[in-house]
Amino acid sequence: MSISYYNANADAYFNDTVGANVNSLRERFLAHVPPGGHILDAGCGSGRDARAFAKAGYQVTAFDASAEMVKRAAAYTGLDVRHMTFADMAWTEEFNGIWACATLLHVPRDELGSTFARFTRALRRGGAWYLSVKHGTDDRVVGERTFTDLIEQEMQKRLEDAGLSVADLWVTDDVRPGRADRWVNTVAVRIE
Ligand SMILES: C[S@@+](CC[C@H](N)C(=O)[O-])C[C@H]1O[C@@H](n2cnc3c(N)ncnc32)[C@H](O)[C@@H]1O
Repeated sequence: MSISYYNANADAYFNDTVGANVNSLRERFLAHVPPGGHILDAGCGSGRDARAFAKAGYQVTAFDASAEMVKRAAAYTGLDVRHMTFADMAWTEEFNGIWACATLLHVPRDELGSTFARFTRALRRGGAWYLSVKHGTDDRVVGERTFTDLIEQEMQKRLEDAGLSVADLWVTDDVRPGRADRWVNTVAVRIE
């Protein structure tokens, strides 16, 4: 359901997000990734962050479930952006870092455990995973999209249950003007 929204509104969504200033979020994540390391941008949307990582000298793999967003991200980044979903992730100990900005928010709560396990498996030991979702406790349907909100405690517990250590956890306002949403952000490190 959420994916058809991105396919149908790809140009508007691209234009709304490609210029969003998330530099400080990327910096907090990159503090845990070695220079030139391999980063996965999971649910890359416009490709804004995949492009920034590639320009900064990281090796970047990027994918999105929306075919229309994949086309736009590939054109914007020049990368071979893949069309796939979190459920297709079969990597084992591949990445130094995984970036999942505002994208796991569409995963139903009862699928978060298996999804977190897949992300953890894709990380190298010592690798870092950034993720952000909207702050709250609700499971919501908004228009054509579903949202699974998390608060800090649930985020931390789910990450620890997946075998990760929370290195950083913070709440931010939306960077886009006029948005009242709050976001919970975290960087978690694979220790096992
Ligand atoms: C709110 S947008 C965020 C995009 C980008 N990460 C950003 O920060 O601008 C959510 C993106 O996640 C993608 N997405 C949602 N569910 C997904 C899934 N199960 N697998 C892969 N991508 C997914 C959507 O197609 C959409 O491009």
